[in-house]
Amino acid sequence: MTATTLPTPADLTITPRDRRFGREKAAPRLWHGGRVEATAIYNALSTTFPAGEAFFVESVREFRDGAPPKLAEEIKGFTTQEAIHSREHDAFNKRATQLGYDLSKLEARVEKRLAITRDRAPIVNVAATMALEHFTAIIAHELLANPRHLAGAEQETADLWRWHAVEEIEHKGVAYDTWLYATRYWPRWKRWKVKSKVMLYVTRNFVIDRTAGSLALMRQDGVAGLRAWALLLWYLWIRPGMFRKIAGAWVKFFLPGFHPWNEDDRHLLGAYEQIAGGTQAKRKVRSAT
Ligand SMILES: [Fe+2]
Ligand SMILES: [Fe+2]
Repeated sequence: MTATTLPTPADLTITPRDRRFGREKAAPRLWHGGRVEATAIYNALSTTFPAGEAFFVESVREFRDGAPPKLAEEIKGFTTQEAIHSREHDAFNKRATQLGYDLSKLEARVEKRLAITRDRAPIVNVAATMALEHFTAIIAHELLANPRHLAGAEQETADLWRWHAVEEIEHKGVAYDTWLYATRYWPRWKRWKVKSKVMLYVTRNFVIDRTAGSLALMRQDGVAGLRAWALLLWYLWIRPGMFRKIAGAWVKFFLPGFHPWNEDDRHLLGAYEQIAGGTQAKRKVRSAT
């Protein structure tokens, strides 16, 4: 596949929605319905975003100069969205710290993983970004498609996750298209081999690190040992079962002809905009009164 035959929809627009969350009203420490394991997994995920998404931005930006104009434009939208996500998750993480969580070990872990990749060639960085972006896109899809994942969560914090998910779907093809462009002279088998290896590597790290991070945070809430493992594994793999639900979409990454936009899931964005529009309108009315 060449840069001129990318299946990213021609009418796709990447629109940064510069929203701020959680600045006015404090969310409770166990913001996810009072559940220790649910709060822990999302908090653990959030610790990866400020540094992780800054890394995505750097990796993709490396290939912006000389890229076809449409891709260069997409990269611009992508980097703006990710920069705002970093800001909002940094604020979210600071609030979690103020509520008493110690995130330092989790953040150090993220930095350690990134340091391994950062020293490698730009193509390796964009490969890691492309794989992780597929991960975030399929999690985002599942999060928006199935209301059970955020059921019971504090409203504005749930909004933060939905907002992030919407933009992850919107820009899900950008790192992949950048990767296709960066490897346009590679033989197909080499491209497949490298992308598959990188995906397996980042998946292993992702599952191990997020599980360990969640358990560490649960311990800070006084839940440890077998009980913590049971609660967390049930939540991740059984009900609501995010990891199980995304397994099929994860496998598709390895199939010939894969592209993130083979599935056009923009209908999920529309559903969000309606809710977000409604919430914002309500807020305006409230502040007017
Ligand atoms: Fe993001
Ligand atoms: Fe992203």
